[in-house]
Amino acid sequence: MEQGVTVGVRGLKHVQVREYVRSVIAGGSPGSAAPSERELVNLFGVARMTVRQAMDALVAEGLLERVPGRGTFVARPRRTATPVTSFTEEMRHRGMLPESVTLFARRDQAGPGVARALGITVGDAIIHWKRLRRADGAPMCIEDVYLNEVLLPGFLQGGMPTSLYDDLADRGMRPTWVEDNIAADVATAEEAGQLEIASGAAVLRQQRRAFAEERAVEVSRSTYRSDRFTLRLRLGAGE
Ligand code: GLP
Repeated sequence: MEQGVTVGVRGLKHVQVREYVRSVIAGGSPGSAAPSERELVNLFGVARMTVRQAMDALVAEGLLERVPGRGTFVARPRRTATPVTSFTEEMRHRGMLPESVTLFARRDQAGPGVARALGITVGDAIIHWKRLRRADGAPMCIEDVYLNEVLLPGFLQGGMPTSLYDDLADRGMRPTWVEDNIAADVATAEEAGQLEIASGAAVLRQQRRAFAEERAVEVSRSTYRSDRFTLRLRLGAGE
């Protein structure tokens, strides 16, 4: 240790350099240049390796980013939350062509589970829409969605939309946040037939309750082929 055993962690040179750089870049706009290694070497009278160590720590923390051949810059804040995406968006994002095949779409009456989830009364009118979702021409998932009919006048008249979330967006009800429950399971014989996998093959079940601001607009069950689908999440610090 450079300054002897009694020196605390703040006495370490690389920590001093790191904390100095942290204070210099605090509030700096993303993309602005961080102090150069040469500057820091001169300022602190330390080895280049010590400066490197300090900068590495700030890069690892996500405060700085290195651009090869250009230098070190104040990083753009990382987006931590996963945006609420539709199947259509999710597949396009993966470079795949999404499709929506309606298996049935009908008016129904809410059972206790759906009623509770949508904040309506048992027996109220709902829309039950079942689809096979394909990507690049092959089955990806089966989706059952339950919607509050009162919120969606005329939904069952005319053709069904390709994207539910686009339709909800047009009505000013695009989901802004969701509760998802994810579970591993195996396909039933019927699901296996629809998904074109072996009966008993692994599937991923996703149950969703989607809200547009404070209003529950959708309850859904999606069953994905586990050989084709990986769920991607970005989690960050909560409130
Ligand atoms: C995802 C969600 C479903 C939602 C669907 C909408 O798959 N898990 O709850 O209904 O997206 O997708 P789209 O807008 O492509 O119809």
